Amino acid sequence: MSKKILLSGVKPTGAPHIGNYFGAMKQFVDLQKDYEGYVFIADYHALNFIQNKDEMEKNIVGVLLDYLAIGLDPKKLTIFKQSDISEHTELAWIFDTLTTMPYLMHAHAFKDAEAKNKEICVGTFNYPMLMAADILLYGPDIVPIGADQKQHVEIARDTAEKFNRIFGETFKLPEPMIMKDMAVVPGIDGKKMSKSYNNHIPLFAEYEEIKRCVMNIVTDSGEGIPKNVYAIHNLFRPASELLPIYESKAGKYKELKEMLIEDIEKFIAPMREKRKEFAKDIPKALKILKEGGEKAKIIASKKMEVVREKVGVKVYEK
Ligand code: ADP
Ligand code: TRP
Repeated sequence: MSKKILLSGVKPTGAPHIGNYFGAMKQFVDLQKDYEGYVFIADYHALNFIQNKDEMEKNIVGVLLDYLAIGLDPKKLTIFKQSDISEHTELAWIFDTLTTMPYLMHAHAFKDAEAKNKEICVGTFNYPMLMAADILLYGPDIVPIGADQKQHVEIARDTAEKFNRIFGETFKLPEPMIMKDMAVVPGIDGKKMSKSYNNHIPLFAEYEEIKRCVMNIVTDSGEGIPKNVYAIHNLFRPASELLPIYESKAGKYKELKEMLIEDIEKFIAPMREKRKEFAKDIPKALKILKEGGEKAKIIASKKMEVVREKVGVKVYEK
């Protein structure tokens, strides 16, 4: 029996944090042996946020090293970047022609930007259409993501249904896969951990940085269990181990934070070292990305041929 398909991606917008890891990236690693996996770098999505050549290049290599360091194995799954597969943007255009403005105006990202009175570029408005194309080209069964991306996968499902209704059965409907306990990893202030809130702990932080982040975790002045410290600690140790410790050390925030620093360091150090190893040979890492792109291209171009035929623009064989 052929394996089920997994697909997901991360935008190269800066160093990942432990929220990205536990919310999404860890699942790619855990599932890679059981699925036919496609994990990519969403560089064209990132262009909405980063319009600087050097920074973009650095970030793309950065995500590639992150993927390798967390344990993604190119022998088990395909690692590629979005911009290598022009079918993503081509299919996004076709989806643009089927999707109404009011429908996309309901998307969280657009509503948030509008609420903040930000000037919104068309790329941000259309973001979910490119994401729908990313997903639907490969027919994944599951799309592992953090809770904040759930709506985007639902939009991809709606878009697949609409296309299928108009042009006939073409796309499989994907399922989002959200780890229940990790749906929203909290930041050091208790709000959702996010690069944009500056409340994050970098996934590859050095010891001193881990220390600084943990010491800055916001605690209330009560005598009980420090909520924010506990929530982050719980990512690294199960409640059954952690609760007795926190109960016996109620109010001793400094001690608990010191323990957390050591637990995070123990967890991050091996990945941090692996990342440094991969960084010593960037051409080798880039070769993995390029070869992944060649594999992904075969699947995407086959699917796109079907799509062109269905919409009626394929009037002769190539
Ligand atoms: P950020 O909000 O820091 O910019 P991204 O939007 O780049 O993060 O998210 C990359 C992936 O990590 C997505 O699948 C997203 O759902 C997941 N993710 C981001 N922040 C968290 C969090 N705090 N908890 C769980 N998952 C998260
Ligand atoms: N939008 C996702 C994020 O911000 C990244 C992404 C782009 C993605 N295309 C995707 C995730 C397709 C899963 C599937 O994190």
